[in-house]
Amino acid sequence: MTDMTPHHDILDPIEIASRDEISALQEKRLAWSLRHAYENSPFFRKRFDEHGAHPDDFRTLADLAKFPFTTKQDLRDTYPFGMFATPREKLVRIHGSSGTTGKPTVVGYTANDISTWADLIARSIRAAGGRSGDILHNAYGYGLFTGGLGAHYGAERLGCTVVPISGGMTERQVTLMQDFKPDIIMVTPSYMLSILDEFRRQGLDPRESSLKVGIFGAEPWTNAMRQEIEEAFNMHAVDIYGLSEVMGPGVAQECVETKDGLHVWEDHFYPEIIDPVTEEVLPDGEMGELVFTTLTKEGLPMVRYRTRDLTRILPGTARSMRRIEKITGRSDDMIILRGVNVFPTQIEEQILKCAGLTAHFQLELVRAGRMDAMIVHAEATPDCADADARAATAKELAHHIKSVVGISTKIEIHDPEQVARSEGKAKRVVDNRPK
Ligand code: DLL
Repeated sequence: MTDMTPHHDILDPIEIASRDEISALQEKRLAWSLRHAYENSPFFRKRFDEHGAHPDDFRTLADLAKFPFTTKQDLRDTYPFGMFATPREKLVRIHGSSGTTGKPTVVGYTANDISTWADLIARSIRAAGGRSGDILHNAYGYGLFTGGLGAHYGAERLGCTVVPISGGMTERQVTLMQDFKPDIIMVTPSYMLSILDEFRRQGLDPRESSLKVGIFGAEPWTNAMRQEIEEAFNMHAVDIYGLSEVMGPGVAQECVETKDGLHVWEDHFYPEIIDPVTEEVLPDGEMGELVFTTLTKEGLPMVRYRTRDLTRILPGTARSMRRIEKITGRSDDMIILRGVNVFPTQIEEQILKCAGLTAHFQLELVRAGRMDAMIVHAEATPDCADADARAATAKELAHHIKSVVGISTKIEIHDPEQVARSEGKAKRVVDNRPK
């Protein structure tokens, strides 16, 4: 793998500022942001008033806990433009996230918001090891989804040559990668696996590709998956996190030199971890639900937005800004199977331990009598071809899942290329239980 020596001279000074400097900036910006939301968004004014909170009540960071939470439901209730804090005419762009039900949730950006976002993506790509002059293959979907355009503007801001390929047409992606020789790829980890399959289908050695770094996010993925992708492509794989409601990709980014979780860009987003049931703020280091307050956003400021993502806050390492641990999953994706909480990432880790399986998988929930059951749809590698080898692999996987995750599952091993492929965010769980 390419050596990625960090260059501290090209960082934004705030990335390596003292904690005191970061906290002072956060306090100043939070005061502005709470006031901006209250004075300019009727939604937030009403919410603060109902909660008995006023921007004047905010003096130090600890005062943030006095303010009310915001949820995805609030965006749905005010669809499409009801939460903005600037007149609609001041917004230069709209994005949305599709979610699972009908209408998207809509978010909007002023010209300044778009510029800040580009700066933070540029910072993220740099933390991943990207530099001005690199060729960057951007396979995040372009459109209402924030991945494509978000990454695009930031890559241009850093000075990369962007290939705006978007998702899909995998054969052409690989052809263009052979021709343009990108240094960096930005894509969901599950779609990277489809690209890997296509390399092999075309008889190409992925380890010979020009790629030095992959910046993967938009869905949960494990360190086992990181290892799988790094070995397959002989490249670095780092994690990028974000969500439309708070901005899009680039809220937090892992540094290539440490690969130890994601630094939250704390000069623009204030993170908290809460107990999802009691809503109490938890100290750094404890697992819980991630909550963000935006510090600089104009179009759609967010106050204590409940992400539903589960993680914990850790101290800074490569940067002074605090890290979040790689996200285990969303509380919405948590499966409760006969009383045991299970995340798809836990199954992913076990699948990647089995030599006879590819990294593609899907989990199906069914009702067996009065009990819920899980079928793990896994996929055999071409080497794991005969019935005996597959039966042994199924047994091996069932054993790993039982002993590590603690649940009994039914394993179905499919022929190569028979498990659904992803072109963006993978759909890991199919719920076929009767409603
Ligand atoms: O997925 C923004 C994004 C695009 C992030 C490209 C990274 C790269 P949404 O569609 O609004 O925005 O979905 C946000 O995706 O709350 C998490 O549940 C999940 N997610 C995003 N990044 C990660 C990650 C984009 N690195 C939701 N690890 C979030 C785990 C992630 N989950």
